[in-house]
Amino acid sequence: MTPTSDFDADPSSAPPPPGPDGLPAVGTLPWFVRDPFSFYDRVSEYGDVVAFDFGLWENVALFHPDDVRRVLVDDADRFRKSDVQRRSGVDFLENGLLLTEGEEWREQRTQLQPLFYRERIQAFADAMVEEAERLVASWDDGEVIDLVDAYSTLAMRILGRTLFGVDVRDDDGYEVIKSATRSVQARADAGSVSAFLPDWVPTPTNRRFARDTAAFREYVDGLVADRRGADPGDADDLLTLLVALREDDSLSEAAVRDQLMTFLFAGHETTSLALAYGTHALARHPSVAAALHEEVAAAAADGLDAATLRGLDLTDRVVSETLRTHPPAYVTFRQPTEDVVIGGYRVREGTNLSIPIWRLHADPRWWDDPEVFDPDRWTAADPERPEHAYLPFGAGPRHCIGMRFASLELHAVLAVVFRETAVEPVPADTGEPSFEAAATLRPSDPLRVRVRTR
Ligand code: HEM
Repeated sequence: MTPTSDFDADPSSAPPPPGPDGLPAVGTLPWFVRDPFSFYDRVSEYGDVVAFDFGLWENVALFHPDDVRRVLVDDADRFRKSDVQRRSGVDFLENGLLLTEGEEWREQRTQLQPLFYRERIQAFADAMVEEAERLVASWDDGEVIDLVDAYSTLAMRILGRTLFGVDVRDDDGYEVIKSATRSVQARADAGSVSAFLPDWVPTPTNRRFARDTAAFREYVDGLVADRRGADPGDADDLLTLLVALREDDSLSEAAVRDQLMTFLFAGHETTSLALAYGTHALARHPSVAAALHEEVAAAAADGLDAATLRGLDLTDRVVSETLRTHPPAYVTFRQPTEDVVIGGYRVREGTNLSIPIWRLHADPRWWDDPEVFDPDRWTAADPERPEHAYLPFGAGPRHCIGMRFASLELHAVLAVVFRETAVEPVPADTGEPSFEAAATLRPSDPLRVRVRTR
């Protein structure tokens, strides 16, 4: 059965998807917790639509791009964000754009979308380049850099300056946001038991989560209070917009707070991981790094502005390949609002549908030598590859609103770093990193490189 014929198919006459039998009461949860990534490798052997249960929770994983398109794009109205997403550590963002539903979501997206139009985003190029130059200038020749740490500070500064009109350097916000991010990751880590317990169970991870997210909330409330008291002048950033929507009662207090927290979290964590994975991969692929330096040095002789960044071909391919091999948002979830047929199989209302983005990006049916980091694979489009075999920013109406912002930041920062420095692998750290299946794709160990200033 082709995916499109599923739209009107009768679920009651379709068979359930195949999948592994689990243990009584807990299903396949113990195998999943042991190693979530290998677990997906294992279940994908059952086909493109695979069912497995975690005790009371029914799950179905989708491995075919056409089924993914159906759920995220063509038939998006019949699928909502999954309860798993709400539980997986980002539930404190409940009233923000990432998790709202229906009319509330549509209204929020319409209010915020103009801030992310191409022309608005292009205007941030100078701030991104300047902040990256400041970071690189702080590195000593031969210094070993912890990339996730360095880039998450950078991403916070860029975000603070462009969308919030706040200098994160000058307040204690950075530590607050960083601790909250760390706690979210720890709570969402699929390899830990906390991910499967309600957040009121007083495990150390849950207690830290409660404390750090409360501090995050307080910080954001302070930002709103300061902006409320200030003359907005000609400021037209996200914070000013949200405060104005609050003043005319278009948004509740909770919605403003959650929205700010959503953007602070979603806007720095993913981008900094992509920068870290890209830089780490380039340290292990010196010929690509050398070519990147040539490209950037030649193009940037007169400075790096938005137009120059747009013209950097190899930089663009490195960004695409980094997001393919290491998609920071490596999985997303939906649940059907009624019984549906997907790939010829019945999927019941409320089932957790899992879309393993990282596996779609590494499926040998669509990618030659998927494990190889090869920016040249992006030189020409592959007409045989389904469009949704690649979706680092999601797809359909709920695709990433910050996609252009993130893409510009990735180009700008990589261009500055590889114009100014050469990076070398640290001897103990030359292999492919290993990962934690947290809210985002985090490395299990620090990602380090040695920088040589040019
Ligand atoms: C490399 C960086 C980034 C990646 C890989 C990424 C990935 C994603 C993905 C896959 C989704 C869709 C989730 C789903 O369908 O369930 C998403 C949604 C979202 N992203 Fe990003 N993102 C990035 C950067 C950003 C930035 C910089 C911002 C904000 C400035 C941002 C804000 C959001 C928001 C608010 C949503 C929810 C949109 C909605 O539901 O309407 N993201 N992102």
